[in-house]
Amino acid sequence: MPNTSEAMGWVRPYYTKAGDYWGPTGVEQVHLDRLRILEAICGANPKRILELGAGTGEAAAVMADAGHDVVAVEFSTPRVRNLKLLSTAATKGSLNAIEGEVYVIAISGEFDVVCYWDGFGVGSDHDQRRLLRRISREWLKRDGLLLMDVFSPYRWVQETGVEWNLDRNHPSHRFRQRRRFGFDPVNGCFKDTWCPIDDETGQCDEAMAITQKIRCYNPADFQLLLEGTCLTLGAIYVDGEPLDFKSSDVTADHPLWRAWSYLAVVKPTPQ
Ligand SMILES: C[S@@+](CC[C@H](N)C(=O)[O-])C[C@H]1O[C@@H](n2cnc3c(N)ncnc32)[C@H](O)[C@@H]1O
Repeated sequence: MPNTSEAMGWVRPYYTKAGDYWGPTGVEQVHLDRLRILEAICGANPKRILELGAGTGEAAAVMADAGHDVVAVEFSTPRVRNLKLLSTAATKGSLNAIEGEVYVIAISGEFDVVCYWDGFGVGSDHDQRRLLRRISREWLKRDGLLLMDVFSPYRWVQETGVEWNLDRNHPSHRFRQRRRFGFDPVNGCFKDTWCPIDDETGQCDEAMAITQKIRCYNPADFQLLLEGTCLTLGAIYVDGEPLDFKSSDVTADHPLWRAWSYLAVVKPTPQ
């Protein structure tokens, strides 16, 4: 079986180019929030954590500094460079940075927590299931938890066609960029296009544009996706607040109308 499906051909070039377009952010509030919610859900005692698609590694470093033993996997070389740098500076716990592709990388041992921040949804449903099965069969302890951000469709649909320019002075962007949102209504994917702006002409260099295409799942569809993976949805959080996904109430101010993503807390299905 190929390592990646046709739907994933764009992934490595996108994230590699994106790693050149904007550098590491440094530790931000979002990384501290991830530690806070992980410890609130899983407990604060030292955990063995596997982070998939760890990017430039700030969240992994925050976890390691809080006393956890983290293995962080990332395949984009410019991002891994920073991840490795951070791994040498971990204080209370440990950070083991691994350059590799989550569909093929061999990682030994089992984990109390597997997390995938801001990255799940690449490729086809088949690809997501392959990854979920690897997590449940190879990496997650029977009493462990998988925490993953899942992109929710509704906000992305509302933002379709919105575009704006990001200044070079933005803390995480080295180039001036035009960012544009779209949504593929047939396949349920958001599209996020970044195009560098030429300093001299002020025009976008369309040949340099890069687009990520990410599958969105509402909670019902996400539960369908989990079927056959030996995993079960345990809880959902939106902006750090629990959401009762077992009862549905159609209201104008439902948090999922405005959330870009929700945090899914997933556990092994009791055998
Ligand atoms: C949107 S970024 C999020 C990065 C980081 N988790 C964060 O929240 O800052 C998604 C990351 O997943 C990585 N990634 C995507 N597919 C991957 C794969 N198959 N194997 C390893 N890393 C992957 C990308 O290179 C990228 O760094």
